[in-house]
Amino acid sequence: MRPTADEELLAFRPMARDDIPQLRRWLAEPHVAEWWSSADETIEGVEARLGERVGRAHPVQPWIVELGGRAIGFLQWYRVEDEAEWYPGLDIPPGTVAMDLAIGEPTAVGRGVGRRVVLEFCHHVLRSVAPDSPEVWIDPDPRNERAVRCYRAAGFVDTGIDLPDLDDPTQVRRLMRMTWAGPTFR
Ligand SMILES: CC(C)(COP(=O)(O)OP(=O)(O)OC[C@H]1O[C@@H](n2cnc3c(N)ncnc32)[C@H](O)[C@@H]1OP(=O)(O)O)[C@@H](O)C(=O)NCCC(=O)NCCS
Repeated sequence: MRPTADEELLAFRPMARDDIPQLRRWLAEPHVAEWWSSADETIEGVEARLGERVGRAHPVQPWIVELGGRAIGFLQWYRVEDEAEWYPGLDIPPGTVAMDLAIGEPTAVGRGVGRRVVLEFCHHVLRSVAPDSPEVWIDPDPRNERAVRCYRAAGFVDTGIDLPDLDDPTQVRRLMRMTWAGPTFR
């Protein structure tokens, strides 16, 4: 049966404490764990951001993605200047933001949802919460073909620049960037 327009509707909301158990389940899904090696750090960052831990306010802002009213995954965004050690040797245009995401529900993967999530989050959320940002960066492992193709379809350009993963020396991060003029569906 074809999904209805409502079932295909995407929505975004800031993550809440109640979402943390779901986040743990998503990070444990094999299709996510294969490419998201830093699950513990992600949970710790979310807990810090949501006030579950003492210490400095964490700069990474976690959001939930809903499809047809059902939570299917999460995104996080941050100012690149706040995490500059992850981008050694690069000129960071002031205000640049970066994002990561995972669609945790296996049934929602690989059917064109990811590119809509990326494009709609950039334009409906990031442009509101970070209007001064000149561009958006995203840094998939270049071996993660599904992610690279998804981001390219959403308008990100592959810079060819590989960056180290500070948490996992076996991983590489390919810098892809999108300027506001760029997004198109292919
Ligand atoms: C990466 C992710 C967000 C992409 O979202 P998605 O909804 O699966 O992506 P889309 O369906 O929009 O696009 C997938 C693209 O990869 C292709 N693809 C699908 N499955 C694939 C696979 N197993 N291997 C290679 N390519 C694949 C599709 O054909 C499509 O490319 P095309 O438009 O050029 O034909 C999602 O798969 C995900 O969350 N994966 C697990 C976590 C992860 O890898 N996160 C990214 C960390 S940077």
